[in-house]
Amino acid sequence: MALVPMKDLLLDAERGDYGVGAFSVANMEMILGAVRAAEELRSPLILQVAQIRLPYSPLPIIAPMMLAAAKNASVPVAVHLDHGKTLDCIAEALELGFTSVMIDASDRPIEENVRLTKQVREMADRYGATVEAEVGQIGVSEDGKKEGERIYSDPFEVKRLKEETGVDAIALSIGNAHGLYKEEPRLNFEVLKKSRELTGMPLVLHGGTGISDADFKKCIQGGIRKVNVATGTFMAVEQAAREYAAEDRRDYFRMSAHMAELAYENVKKHIRIFGSEGKAE
Ligand code: 13P
Repeated sequence: MALVPMKDLLLDAERGDYGVGAFSVANMEMILGAVRAAEELRSPLILQVAQIRLPYSPLPIIAPMMLAAAKNASVPVAVHLDHGKTLDCIAEALELGFTSVMIDASDRPIEENVRLTKQVREMADRYGATVEAEVGQIGVSEDGKKEGERIYSDPFEVKRLKEETGVDAIALSIGNAHGLYKEEPRLNFEVLKKSRELTGMPLVLHGGTGISDADFKKCIQGGIRKVNVATGTFMAVEQAAREYAAEDRRDYFRMSAHMAELAYENVKKHIRIFGSEGKAE
């Protein structure tokens, strides 16, 4: 099993009609929790870290940890750079051994998005790595801090990006958002349907935290093959620290184990919803 190109997981998901969870990690507890959940449920897994988080989890340190966890796992695991914004960062992730990278040029005009995505496609091909790109604007930045305009993906631009770059997966903006939703998310399934009809390719849903089980399932039926979850795990681990702090004990290792446990619970819950349980064999 172990470290695999993300494309392999997406193609298997395509054949089996399920979604693969891409879980953001920031430290060892989150990595341990995610891998434990995937192994227990015999599910494929994507471990990812976003460029914007690297000031907290430096790539040269978190990358070897993610890769080692993948190599030692008894299920297939892809290691992915989420929201790559600069070619330098993407090059570094590829050189470190990531099996997948995202180029997020969704804030640029489509011509520019195509040009940059093509460049990343060429870089990734030298490593046999998978490439994810994005069309439309999800509205809230990956760290939930910067709120911009939400622009739904234009399915014709999704088609154009696919055809002109040969990218493996495309993330859509269909009313999803990173971080916590201020109100109940209302997804635009028409955009998903049209994008899928025009491309027939694996599509990606960002902003997983806060999406209902029913909407996750509907998205997966509509061709979403990679589902990103970050905030839910970060909150679970923070909650673990709070619960520990409320106790009258001092034992770092118990706290660390509790953090890994709550990360595990969150990942496990999502793997079950995405339908990838038992698909590792
Ligand atoms: P959430 O933080 O909303 O789960 O979104 C994760 C994500 O899409 C990472 O790119």
